[in-house]
Amino acid sequence: MLIDQYNRVHNYLRISLTDNCNFRCFYCMPEEEYSFSPPASLMQPSEIEKLAKVFVDLGVNKIRLTGGEPLIRKDAAQIISALGKLPVTLTLTTNGVRLHEFKDTLEQAGIGSVNISLDTLQADKFQLITRRNSFYTVKNNIELMLKMGVHVKVNAVIMAGLNEDEIVDFIEWTKYMPVHVRFIEFMPFSGNKWTSNKVFTWQQMLEKASTVYSFLPLKNDQHDTSKGYIVPGHAGTFSVISTMSAPFCDSCNRIRITADGKLKNCLFAKDETDLLTAMRNGEDVIDFIKKIL
Ligand code: GTP
Ligand code: 5AD
Ligand code: SF4
Repeated sequence: MLIDQYNRVHNYLRISLTDNCNFRCFYCMPEEEYSFSPPASLMQPSEIEKLAKVFVDLGVNKIRLTGGEPLIRKDAAQIISALGKLPVTLTLTTNGVRLHEFKDTLEQAGIGSVNISLDTLQADKFQLITRRNSFYTVKNNIELMLKMGVHVKVNAVIMAGLNEDEIVDFIEWTKYMPVHVRFIEFMPFSGNKWTSNKVFTWQQMLEKASTVYSFLPLKNDQHDTSKGYIVPGHAGTFSVISTMSAPFCDSCNRIRITADGKLKNCLFAKDETDLLTAMRNGEDVIDFIKKIL
């Protein structure tokens, strides 16, 4: 089992497949090209599989593939198929635009749930946020996932003055759409022009929601980053993710590997440990991982 210095058990591994993305959300990436990790520094499918197996042996039972956008890698299907054979719950966080190309792969790998980023239900605002014109593709792919019986969590980053007025629209959407919408507080990352006045807090989100709806709390899992609610009679549910105003770090069970094979035990951690180089040098990765934690 992987237990860190804060006594947290890490059984949930997030593997980033690439730091690049086919969208350019203004709060995440600059519009122009910038220097992403060079291909040679990225983990290869066989290396990802090998590392994932090490973590499974150490007690990991859930793996999430992330990015950037994980599905832009040419070998994404190969990686999903390989990890789908491991005794873990395999899932991914995606912008959704390529999901239809992976229908068979996802089915064969037994993917039961995906998290899809969608910050707005308005096509023109979607273009403004992502700098791409893919609103209807993403929406169709959400429907495709539901038709396939895949559970969909929709991640909507809420920013004051940008889309807080859509909280009610999203909840209205859950009347017929059996999705779980998660309203996420805007977090600071280097270079994303974060300012505290753009944060719309989870309390403000619930206040907005309660101007129109009465809702009941859902039972939360201990490791959930969100607090969930349902409007009685709605097909879907919603929740708020309070990263900024009420951090949930003490119950965090996640461990991360960056696309170039560095281990991080927190999203905000500055320290990274180069697992990939260690593995390429033939070092004992298990020992290495245990030491770091
Ligand atoms: P599940 O709970 O398994 O559905 O996934 P998740 O919420 O961990 O993953 P996802 O990639 O969908 O991330 C959604 C949001 O969760 C992010 O925008 C962050 O706000 C938040 N989040 C995920 N992991 C962390 C973390 O380690 N620390 C903090 N502070 N926030 C996180
Ligand atoms: N604050 C909060 N959430 C963010 N995401 C990306 N950048 C930020 C930020 N600054 C979200 C994406 C995706 C999830 C993994 O993280 O929208 O859904
Ligand atoms: Fe960043 Fe996700 Fe937007 Fe891509 S889709 S630019 S990774 S927030």
